[in-house]
Amino acid sequence: MTNRELISAAMKAREKSYCPYSNFAVGAALLTKGGNIITGCNIENAAFSPTNCAERTAFFKAVSEGITEFDRIAIVGGSVDGPIENFCYPCGVCRQVMMEFCDPDSFTIISAISEDNYREFTLKDLLPEGFGPDIL
Ligand code: THU
Repeated sequence: MTNRELISAAMKAREKSYCPYSNFAVGAALLTKGGNIITGCNIENAAFSPTNCAERTAFFKAVSEGITEFDRIAIVGGSVDGPIENFCYPCGVCRQVMMEFCDPDSFTIISAISEDNYREFTLKDLLPEGFGPDIL
């Protein structure tokens, strides 16, 4: 699976975003260790706080299907009306959810503007000294 293919899947997932309040559409494509892609989009709510980010949608879909081992995630986000113009990074809550299931040294987070323009980080880069299951 190439990064290009994963970013493309995130772009497609973004089209499903339900974001009538922020008008900020996000798509994520999570690559499992088994080589499958699980996608997610942000899903907003009139009560605001039940809103779920694209990354967590992808993680929760996967875990609810019994998949708990992950390799990489690609994220794209921007105004629902236009093309993606900036890098979108996972919020703190999503980073913490990643910490639950992923190895911070090797799990890779790809933030993309396009299939050819992206940045890569490890989870540890974005959540240093994270609190994870190993601590308990
Ligand atoms: N959002 C995501 O889905 N992922 C991110 O990485 C950042 C923020 C969503 C939440 C909300 O629906 C909208 O973007 C604006 O914050």
